[in-house]
Amino acid sequence: MSVQESKTIMQGTHLKQHYEVSQGFFKPKGLVKAVDGVSFTVQAGKTLAIVGESGCGKSTLARQLTMIETPTEGELSFEGSNLLTLSAEEKRKARQRIQIIFQNPYGSLNPRKKIGHILEEPLKINSDMSAAERKERALYLLEKVGLKTEHYDRYPHMFSGGQRQRIAIARGLMMNPKVVVADEPVSALDVSVQAQVLNLMMDLQQELDLAYVFISHDLSVVEHIADEVMVMYLGLVVEQGPAEKIFANPQHPYTRALLSSTPRIDPEHRIEKIRLEGELPSPLNPPSGCAFHGRCPYANERCKGERPQLLETPNGTLARCYGVEEDRLDYLQAVLA
Ligand SMILES: Nc1ncnc2c1ncn2[C@@H]1O[C@H](COP(=O)(O)OP(=O)(O)OP(=O)(O)O)[C@@H](O)[C@H]1O
Ligand SMILES: [Mg+2]
Repeated sequence: MSVQESKTIMQGTHLKQHYEVSQGFFKPKGLVKAVDGVSFTVQAGKTLAIVGESGCGKSTLARQLTMIETPTEGELSFEGSNLLTLSAEEKRKARQRIQIIFQNPYGSLNPRKKIGHILEEPLKINSDMSAAERKERALYLLEKVGLKTEHYDRYPHMFSGGQRQRIAIARGLMMNPKVVVADEPVSALDVSVQAQVLNLMMDLQQELDLAYVFISHDLSVVEHIADEVMVMYLGLVVEQGPAEKIFANPQHPYTRALLSSTPRIDPEHRIEKIRLEGELPSPLNPPSGCAFHGRCPYANERCKGERPQLLETPNGTLARCYGVEEDRLDYLQAVLA
């Protein structure tokens, strides 16, 4: 058996997205740093998971990656070429190779169109396939996502939430993409259905050699699907690295808090709880220093001063935390003892 080498298919470097927002009459405009200097690579056939609470910038990143929005700063490449300087025609082609799936399978499927029509629409616009070829591909993908060929003539309302998300996945795959950005694809589904859709996505990844950028506010959801994990807080990466390292020994108190807020089945991996206290600060007026300091049980004066850098940790991940830098977090020392 040959050892599979990982190959970078997509890369973001120091990506930023800043929004000017009005704060009312007579007040100066505010600046929301929705994404504030984020770097990552996506490996072909692998999954990068982006995790964090509401408003941390996950969907903004998803819009950058799928070229719905142009970053205010930074670089973005796909298959070695700079996505931000492509010609209109090249962009159109790249868009077909990078697809997006949204959280809400109700909202993303046109209720007045039959499934067959919904699936074939991207092919009508972007390919010169004949009607028969388009139908063949739609039927092929319906079966691939675990639906039946007779579903081709039905309307979205005739399906359950999980089935509808399968349809959205099939539609995302019609153009044979290399990267699928999935923005909370299972968050609207019942827990039992979530696992089925996740399993389907993992099977499709293997079979079709898909790279996923999988977005979730729930770290435990991505445990089995992620190869790399990037944890975000108010537009910044706070911890980033190989999934098995992040799950086995999370370094940043925020990662740890996210992980301990959901029950984990495997007792070996259970970690003592860090409760998240206080409200998520306003992104319009983020705290000085480490943006997490107001909610962190380990914060000291230094954490309120200057923003910490994203640095390599003994665990082989990157973390943005003075507590990790100074090796003063009891849970990390307990692991080594
Ligand atoms: N077009 C915009 N104009 C101004 N602010 C925006 C705009 N889009 C997003 N924001 C702000 O940027 C921040 C990040 O938003 P984003 O939707 O990326 O977060 P998210 O992590 O996807 O959150 P959620 O989990 O709720 O989906 C939020 O504070 C949001 O209000
Ligand atoms: Mg979002």
